[in-house]
Amino acid sequence: MSKFVIVGQNSLEGSISVDGSKNSSLPILAATLLAQGCSTIYGIPSLADIQNMCNILKCLGAEVSTAKGGASGLGLTISCKKLNPDVSQCENTGLIRASFLVAGPLLARCKKVKISMPGGCPIGLRPVDLHLKGFHALGAKISTGHGFIEAKCKNLTGAVIYLDFPSVGATENLMMAASLATGQTIIENAAIEPEIVDLANFINAMGGQITGAGTDLIKISGVKELDGQGYTVIPDRIEAGTYAVAAAMTNSKIQINNVIPGHLKPMIAKMRETGIEITEGDSQITVNAADKIKAADIKTLPYPGFPTDMQAPFSSLMTVASGTSIIVETIFENRFLHISELAKMGANIKAEGRTVVIEGVKSLTGAKVRAYDLRGGAALVLAALASEGETEISGIEHIDRGYLKLDEKLSTIGVNIIRV
Ligand code: UD1
Repeated sequence: MSKFVIVGQNSLEGSISVDGSKNSSLPILAATLLAQGCSTIYGIPSLADIQNMCNILKCLGAEVSTAKGGASGLGLTISCKKLNPDVSQCENTGLIRASFLVAGPLLARCKKVKISMPGGCPIGLRPVDLHLKGFHALGAKISTGHGFIEAKCKNLTGAVIYLDFPSVGATENLMMAASLATGQTIIENAAIEPEIVDLANFINAMGGQITGAGTDLIKISGVKELDGQGYTVIPDRIEAGTYAVAAAMTNSKIQINNVIPGHLKPMIAKMRETGIEITEGDSQITVNAADKIKAADIKTLPYPGFPTDMQAPFSSLMTVASGTSIIVETIFENRFLHISELAKMGANIKAEGRTVVIEGVKSLTGAKVRAYDLRGGAALVLAALASEGETEISGIEHIDRGYLKLDEKLSTIGVNIIRV
């Protein structure tokens, strides 16, 4: 198993470019199943989660090939003439939670789907009840047993669906299913993340009729069929936020390219509160870290609140800030797997329930630590940048799930990091 070895306290400089969004690419790849024709998706980050999703699409009968063109990232052409709705036969479904996003398109196209409970990071229970309630409202009969979920319908019919919680995945699955339903569907209390808007834009490019994506009331008028399309995914806002923290951890100034600054608002606002200077351009930001980072409190919330995916990376920054910060995680119940590892590096950090209290220290010290989940792993890389001496991080397969060639990219701005 590979490890990252990082020697900390180097000053960073130069510019770094963000890849396409993982969390947009996954639902958009699932949405290609809605059309019989070919879609080509550009800007896809070539990550393990994407490979797993491609394997699932292939297992369902789609043809997947790489495509030339597009500014950066991977281009993938997907053609889905005939589909097999039995996802339970596919090997990779346990590996990524996003595998469940093929359920909506399959139900819409094939009128049935059989799928196992999804996997993912060990950050909480992560049920799919909201997805299933929505499918039921659209007219599907749902049965569960032996670790599988089956949904069947004669036809999907538009309905008004109120989500108890603005779940990103449920909003995406229901938007996809409703796009081929008869009549109008209204999703109330929908998630409003930028990735929802990206998916709606792709479905609309295919001939769908979705309005209101990006607000908590989404209206979908079902159409008879959708056509494959070419589409480029948005940049990854969490990758951008991670690099901004990297600059702050090392009191450096860097430019982060290929971003949509509007998507970074909740992170930029919080970073400015800690004293970091951030200048916004059209598609780039410059992060100029103050000598002293002030402690700040955060509470994770659905967009446009502070993103749960940045909770662990921001916690790393707070370990070296001056003062006490209180971090409250409201989205996932077990997203603190990085805390004991940060403590090994000298952080004064304690968790109680869903709250973490961090007393900033002058400096961290390198140690042997383990990544247990994707964003918690990124938090350890960030902590290593501010640490005296060498840090060895194992479990980096979790980090590779969400950051493409993180070691190579960080090396270009001056991080002393090797993969061994
Ligand atoms: C997506 C992102 C993930 C991010 C999360 C929240 C992808 C591939 N992943 O995950 O990186 O951290 O949004 O911004 O896009 N819930 C239920 N029942 C459901 C569905 C969700 O109780 O049917 C709960 C979950 O357990 C969790 C909360 O709702 O506590 C948020 O989950 P959700 O918004 O659905 O996140 P994901 O789509 O899984």
